[in-house]
Amino acid sequence: MKQITRRQFVAKSSMVATGLIGAGAIGFGVISPRSVFADDVKFIESSCESRGRKILVAYESYCGSTSKVAQGIADVFCKQGAKVDLKHIENVIDISSYDGVVIGSAVKSASWYPSAISFVKKNQNQLKQIPVIYFLTCLALYYDTEEANQTAKNYFNGVLNEVPEVKPREMQAFAGVLDYSKLNMMFKIVMKSKMKKKGIPEGDFRDFEKIQSWALKTAWPRLATS
Ligand SMILES: Cc1cc2nc3c(=O)[nH]c(=O)nc-3n(C[C@H](O)[C@H](O)[C@H](O)COP(=O)(O)O)c2cc1C
Repeated sequence: MKQITRRQFVAKSSMVATGLIGAGAIGFGVISPRSVFADDVKFIESSCESRGRKILVAYESYCGSTSKVAQGIADVFCKQGAKVDLKHIENVIDISSYDGVVIGSAVKSASWYPSAISFVKKNQNQLKQIPVIYFLTCLALYYDTEEANQTAKNYFNGVLNEVPEVKPREMQAFAGVLDYSKLNMMFKIVMKSKMKKKGIPEGDFRDFEKIQSWALKTAWPRLATS
């Protein structure tokens, strides 16, 4: 399993961008929204080998917690005999060899991160032809009410409206993590005020039993058929 820190990720992104479009990209890398978060964030990447179906689990995560959700899902597919690549969305270069793709993102401002939507847009021609599943993590699901579930479901509208040609076989929202230590001063202040109003405390609300049960009983059967 490979883990890269946010600082390494930003440095790597800056180097790639610099190589592609010249010195101007260095400034962009430094002021990128990614760099305003704490730099101890880990992005998990891993692969498991097998002769079974080849599945990609790609995720966007800013504070790191969605990468563990994606890993939990990928582990289930590995145990089912699939050949699985778990990758941060920025590190996916070519999806043409996959038989199925799971794409997940943390929610910011009531939607998937723009980079996750761009990933779907960029790869839509291939995604239209294979089984695709979406998931997200959010804090609305701190509450397990009908209203909260509807709010969380609506967070998929951004990607569904922007790339209607890709029709996921399944979409699932999970409760995420609120960890102020991962946020910079500005986001910390904004989030503390918003979460106070909503009555949501700091904490890890991921339910890995629920996540893995969904992966096994719902996601895997939909990926395992053409
Ligand atoms: C700046 C910011 C904006 C957020 N906006 C929303 C939101 O609109 N709705 C929601 O339910 N959760 C929202 N969240 C909560 C995240 O989606 C949740 O904490 C998620 O688990 C973070 O995943 P990550 O650790 O992979 O980045 C927001 C979090 C941050 C930091």
